[in-house]
Amino acid sequence: MNEDTLQAALSNPQNLGEMPDADAVGTVGSPDCGDMVRMWLKYKEEDGRKVIDKASFQSFGCQTAIAVASLATELIRGKTKEEALQMSAEELSAPLGPLPPMKIHCGQMVEGALKAALEAEQASSATPPMAASTQTGPTLVDSLTAAGKTAGKIKIVLQS
Ligand code: FES
Repeated sequence: MNEDTLQAALSNPQNLGEMPDADAVGTVGSPDCGDMVRMWLKYKEEDGRKVIDKASFQSFGCQTAIAVASLATELIRGKTKEEALQMSAEELSAPLGPLPPMKIHCGQMVEGALKAALEAEQASSATPPMAASTQTGPTLVDSLTAAGKTAGKIKIVLQS
């Protein structure tokens, strides 16, 4: 593992912290060490493609996870969702060099948080693409009401 790159990433972690206007967020935790990584993603349109505009993260405890997450949030900028989904933990942590066996799961946690965020966004983008999203569509209440009608079990009380 490249200690200089590790120390540089730790002394000045990039993209650390919550992103209030994120399009998606993903969180994973390791039952083995109790650490957790959360990643936020924001997209933009570029040359007709939807790419990652910026990413940020939070990680508690583990220095390797912080360093990998810091590098990963830089590496995935400008990538499409499909391209980012292809990236392995090894690729995300490549600038650090091979991780020691005890630390391999740290990189995998970052990969997991990234994939969770990418997939969370996929789920919410079942609605039409960005350009059409300003059109009036069914609201959450409409969908719940429709679900309630079919299921016959959901009752919605609107608060005034
Ligand atoms: Fe568990 Fe690094 S994330 S020791």
